[in-house]
Amino acid sequence: MSAAGRDDFFELDGQRVPLQPGDTILRAAARAGLDIPHLCWHPDVSASASCRLCTVLADDRPVAACVAPAVAGQKVECRTASLDTQRLRLLQMLFVEGNHFCPGCEKSGHCLLQAQAERAGMTDLHFEALNPERPVDASHPDVLFEPNRCILCQLCVRASDEMDGKHVFAIGGHGIATRLLIDSPSGRLGDSALSVDDRAAHICPVGALLPKRVGFAVPIGERPFDTEDTRG
Ligand code: SF4
Ligand code: FES
Repeated sequence: MSAAGRDDFFELDGQRVPLQPGDTILRAAARAGLDIPHLCWHPDVSASASCRLCTVLADDRPVAACVAPAVAGQKVECRTASLDTQRLRLLQMLFVEGNHFCPGCEKSGHCLLQAQAERAGMTDLHFEALNPERPVDASHPDVLFEPNRCILCQLCVRASDEMDGKHVFAIGGHGIATRLLIDSPSGRLGDSALSVDDRAAHICPVGALLPKRVGFAVPIGERPFDTEDTRG
């Protein structure tokens, strides 16, 4: 054990966060019960650093907290006015890039994008909505794919690769045409190796990949994000 407390902690917005070997800033903060806004990070799979919602200042340098190593003695800032505004704009861009009608979505109340937008105090879209029309893929007997809600976080890609060993998903295309690809002869989910028992079928943070016949099972008011106080 080190002699000085400085050797075992970093500071996140003035709070001391204990370190373990190999920690990233986000993992150490999550273990300490401190929230750094994120979308594409999940503790069970490797980090992709694709959404950039977790950007913090580490000793004044902007880094993605989900991949940046936690360093003893470091001063990390997360909730600055500038970073909060950048996060809000990033969330607004995600909303206009897809079609996210929260009141009609069965993921409402369980959706991390919706929760992050509420936490960020988002009350409008700010940008012009692109209103894409991407065909819904209902070909799988047990899992629906609604690409208009996909935020390209790659969690299903990594879960299928690392946890299911199936490689059902990949990201393809460039810029505005970037999309989630499905490994099957038709490119549709029903012809893929995905099973509803796969981790990839349950890891989507939004309502893009949804197990069928379980929607609205939890009543409004009892869903995970219903009782969260987002006024802070
Ligand atoms: Fe992420 Fe869901 Fe899109 Fe997969 S389907 S990339 S988990 S948003
Ligand atoms: Fe770090 Fe998405 S959570 S980049």
